[in-house]
Amino acid sequence: MINKLKLWKKQPQSSNLQERMTLIKEQQIPSHVAIIMDGNGRWAKKRALPRVAGHHEGMKVVRKITKLANELGIQALTLYAFSTENWKRPKLEVDYLMKLPEEFLGSFLPELIEENVKVTMIGEKENLPSHTLKAIEKAMVDTKDNTGLVLNFALNYGSRAEMVSAMKQVMIDCEAGVLDVEEITEETFANYLMTKGLGDPDLLIRTSGEIRLSNFMLWQLAYTEFWFTDVLWPDFAEEHFVQAMEDYQNRQRRFGGV
Ligand code: IPE
Ligand code: IPE
Ligand code: MG
Repeated sequence: MINKLKLWKKQPQSSNLQERMTLIKEQQIPSHVAIIMDGNGRWAKKRALPRVAGHHEGMKVVRKITKLANELGIQALTLYAFSTENWKRPKLEVDYLMKLPEEFLGSFLPELIEENVKVTMIGEKENLPSHTLKAIEKAMVDTKDNTGLVLNFALNYGSRAEMVSAMKQVMIDCEAGVLDVEEITEETFANYLMTKGLGDPDLLIRTSGEIRLSNFMLWQLAYTEFWFTDVLWPDFAEEHFVQAMEDYQNRQRRFGGV
């Protein structure tokens, strides 16, 4: 029974991924997809490997899903790579995670440039090691004129910290007379967030079976469609992303209306 279930789970709905992608492209594509890439540690543990091996494997999936999102015509892909809470992890793991952007961009930046992908970042830059920041900033500069998919890394990102710093800036601007209290609306406030100009995610994917937000884009996800899967991030494949897109297209978004 268990084997049967596993087999069924692994079967793509339609045999041909390309065919499914063509059908997806004929309907409304989400403009902005956000992913909480979770389960790297458990993936490694299952294989008796160190947790960092899971992060390394997860990096390859980032490449694959970025390529697919770009192919599908998605405008922005936000990937939660490191939260403000992830500093609590063992130093060895944190150090490894802080090396991943260099490794990822070191091997994939030329491809991203060729594919017209624009790299951006949200999160506190201040506490990042300089080598990490340097890699990200180089990618941002090298891809700044690209017009394809926006690949937005949430690195040292926490939604509450983001809102507090936005609120502080709002107060500073009010005191300086740049902004009037009466002018503070949902739109003006959103412009003080790190996601300014990006638009709210239409679809949020979280892998590894955890059903929570873990301090991710609390403001921006107000009307986002959520899609959860038990699949661990390093096992996340094109067919899972395609499945999420198909499910999204079958949802009815009402935004409070009827
Ligand atoms: C997600 O995988 C990656 C980061 C949070 C950086 P985890 O490392 O959280 O993996 P699990 O949840 O322990 O399996
Ligand atoms: C959320 O995953 C952060 C990232 C994916 C970067 P966590 O693994 O840190 O979340 P919790 O601790 O399970 O809530
Ligand atoms: Mg986790």
